[in-house]
Amino acid sequence: MSEAPDEKENFRKCGSLCIGPACLEDVDRILEIEGQSFSDPWSRQGFEDAMKYDYSTLLAARCDGTVAGYCCLYHIMDEGEIVNVAVAQEFRGRGIGEQMLGELIRQGRLMSVKRFILDVRVGNTAAIRLYEKAGFRRLAIQKNFYENPSEDGWLMELLV
Ligand SMILES: CC(C)(COP(=O)(O)OP(=O)(O)OC[C@H]1O[C@@H](n2cnc3c(N)ncnc32)[C@H](O)[C@@H]1OP(=O)(O)O)[C@@H](O)C(=O)NCCC(=O)NCCS
Repeated sequence: MSEAPDEKENFRKCGSLCIGPACLEDVDRILEIEGQSFSDPWSRQGFEDAMKYDYSTLLAARCDGTVAGYCCLYHIMDEGEIVNVAVAQEFRGRGIGEQMLGELIRQGRLMSVKRFILDVRVGNTAAIRLYEKAGFRRLAIQKNFYENPSEDGWLMELLV
């Protein structure tokens, strides 16, 4: 059965989680998780822009009303770039990253994305395994792609 296009707007129940569009009230908590997760965190403006623009989808995963994680997709035509995926430290290892990523890919597919790409630090084993479990493959090494600390990145790809 095909899914209605306006389903993108709705929250989706995934086990004990609710996954759906992040809203302005979520930004403080998202910034807290971002600060725990990355040495080069996005700014408040970056997240607010991601909520605003048609070409981006920012999802939040809520566990009993608390934002446990978020992820973001930029999409243009049939190409999508996953630009941010993070789960709060106290919620990691419970399958939340996997469910969020699955929902982001599902929504991208509803918007006709056929190719998803992302970058990940070569030493980020947890994230690489998460992406490979979702079907991504390592496409190319990008030398010194990251700063603070300097590190190579894998460009990964998923064709759907
Ligand atoms: C990467 C991250 C989002 C994973 O989220 P999570 O909710 O803990 O992951 P899940 O519990 O859904 O795990 C799904 C799969 O990812 C892999 N994985 C997750 N954590 C792992 C770890 N610590 N070590 C190895 N593999 C791991 C496993 O394959 C796991 O499947 P399995 O449980 O069947 O083995 C989380 O660790 C995080 O926020 N890290 C900091 C931010 C970050 O690095 N984001 C990615 C940037 S590219």
